[in-house]
Amino acid sequence: MKRYNMKNQIHNMHTTTTIPIRRTAESGLPGLDINNLPFGKTPTDHLFIARYAGGEWAEARIEPFHQLTLSPFALCFHYGQTVFEGMKAFRMEDGNISIFRLEKHHRRFNRSLHRMGMPAVPYELFREGLRQLIALDQEWAPSGKDASLYIRPFVIATEERLGVKISDEYLFLIVCTPVGPYYARPLRVKVETEFVRAADGGTGYAKCGGNYGGAFLPTQKAIEAGYDQVLWTDAQTREFLEESGTMNLMFIIDGTLITPALSDTILDGVTRDSILQLARARSLEVQERKISIRELEAALKSGDRVEAFGAGTAAVVAPIESIAIGEETYSCYVKEDAVMHSFKAELQAIRTGKAEDVWGWNEVVGVR
Ligand SMILES: Cc1ncc(COP(=O)(O)O)c(C=O)c1O
Repeated sequence: MKRYNMKNQIHNMHTTTTIPIRRTAESGLPGLDINNLPFGKTPTDHLFIARYAGGEWAEARIEPFHQLTLSPFALCFHYGQTVFEGMKAFRMEDGNISIFRLEKHHRRFNRSLHRMGMPAVPYELFREGLRQLIALDQEWAPSGKDASLYIRPFVIATEERLGVKISDEYLFLIVCTPVGPYYARPLRVKVETEFVRAADGGTGYAKCGGNYGGAFLPTQKAIEAGYDQVLWTDAQTREFLEESGTMNLMFIIDGTLITPALSDTILDGVTRDSILQLARARSLEVQERKISIRELEAALKSGDRVEAFGAGTAAVVAPIESIAIGEETYSCYVKEDAVMHSFKAELQAIRTGKAEDVWGWNEVVGVR
């Protein structure tokens, strides 16, 4: 059995590990329209799973998608040691499949795991688990416009113990689901100044379950008030914009792309980073800095064209059509010639092989 010793992490891109595969007897694919499924409900035929115990990852395997059996004493149910990633694979023009920015997602996964006191997942295990799972479930990668295969790697604490302690045992799983667009139309958002998502020194930069659990109530209240999402502000002053839902925030004001600078309260988004690289390559001025509610309000009031959008794996580029600040609601520019749409198109072209991948972002899985 292959073991991944944590004291001796392997970072060799060229090593290939054979992962034992047990195939499903019956694919769920026949009869499904994988280009038109509700987001995140339909698993592909298989999952990847590995177990951590005694200080090392072992028992990596691919199996038919199945339920998990865990003791009610498993620590993940009680103290929140859960970490996940959200990635996508795309059907390319030549029929192959590209996994987008695997390495960057892996680095963030390990940063999140570290913050939550959980063991790192070696690069080789992450990469081979993903590649082999996607090669096996390749028929599930949709080819429709705006459709992709969403990938969810995650680690949960499984040690059976009711005491408040760091777990000594974990499961690492990867599951996939074909998805279409996350949001059907431009978003109406409100600036949130009552609740906060993350504070300095906390876990905001980690993709851990608790960050999302804590965001549900304020988001639900905003939805009940007629908005789609909240724009989070900083915990100390509630004056500076941070991010939104599962997206980083971006504005194009006066021809300059402005986005809140990364900090320990903001997730280091892969889409954010990709759009910033594309913008710099176009010689668009980019500013990563604090942006206050007052500055945004002044720009929105000035009557100048303000583009606002969320950037994230699930939503890609989500145009924001209006922003509520206190009692006032302001409109943003979302028409077809808005610059943000061109970033979405450029990303799509790179991912599908229509444009050259000069950045080396695509991890290509060849189809049989
Ligand atoms: C809180 C939060 N911010 C931002 C993002 C965007 O990150 P990415 O572009 O890597 O999906 C996500 C999604 O992963 C998120 O959950």
